[in-house]
Amino acid sequence: MAELPPNIELVHLFAVSRSAAAARARLAAMLENPETHVRAERMLTLWRSHPGVYDRVRKIEAIAQQGTAWRDVFDAAAAVDPCAAVALYSLGDADLLAAATEELAEAMRRWQVLASGTVVLDFGCGTGRISAAIAPYVARVLGVDASPRMVDVARAAVARHANAAVIEADCLSALRGDRFDVVLAIDTMPYVVQAGDADAFWEEADALLNPGGAVLMMNYSYRGDPARDDEDVTAFAARHGFLVARCGTQDLTHWDGRAFLLHKI
Ligand SMILES: C[S@@+](CC[C@H](N)C(=O)[O-])C[C@H]1O[C@@H](n2cnc3c(N)ncnc32)[C@H](O)[C@@H]1O
Repeated sequence: MAELPPNIELVHLFAVSRSAAAARARLAAMLENPETHVRAERMLTLWRSHPGVYDRVRKIEAIAQQGTAWRDVFDAAAAVDPCAAVALYSLGDADLLAAATEELAEAMRRWQVLASGTVVLDFGCGTGRISAAIAPYVARVLGVDASPRMVDVARAAVARHANAAVIEADCLSALRGDRFDVVLAIDTMPYVVQAGDADAFWEEADALLNPGGAVLMMNYSYRGDPARDDEDVTAFAARHGFLVARCGTQDLTHWDGRAFLLHKI
């Protein structure tokens, strides 16, 4: 992606600023610089239209740093703001998140991940935004999340789709015996990797997939080392008999998430 959208730049700015005042000072400096002036203006407009967003974003970031008990972490984050908890870059704005969700669902259709006969597992479904967006295009979608509060939100989100359901579980082994054509892990792998459960994920995803099935992961880790992510995914893919169709590509305009698309040989 060429230029980051202002909401993502704003979240990055917050992350490197110790306080709202420090973030404002950085933004003022960007405004002074002709090269960053226009971007800074867009960020400032967005910030002004979302009062309190600095505190909300920092609160969720702080919760996310409280260890790897993701059930509790995401329960606490969802209590602050479910939209921001699943996608900090949404700033908690449902419209911003809906635009990003629609773009991702569109990309999935373009990449031929979704078809009318496809049975999808949405692992780490959060608020169920992805499950709800793709339900009209697939045979069945099952959302799974470790956080009971997220599961409640997700159940409400998919309630109007007869082919969608959500269950609470913190690993894929809970689904043993079931079969899927696609396993989605949309911004879920960073938490799986951080908890040291990547090996188990690959074993279980492999076992759950029908022949010819696919795994689509958006973001693999938050280690800050994209080359290492690409190496890890490539190595896991080779070990489990997957072909890598996309390896860390950034294809979206609303989100800088990195796509990893693998097809079971
Ligand atoms: C950043 S959110 C993304 C949610 C959703 N995929 C989306 O993009 O809107 C990550 C989600 O993964 C869930 N999660 C993390 N580790 C998990 C695990 N081991 N099993 C099930 N859910 C998990 C969290 O509870 C959280 O809802």
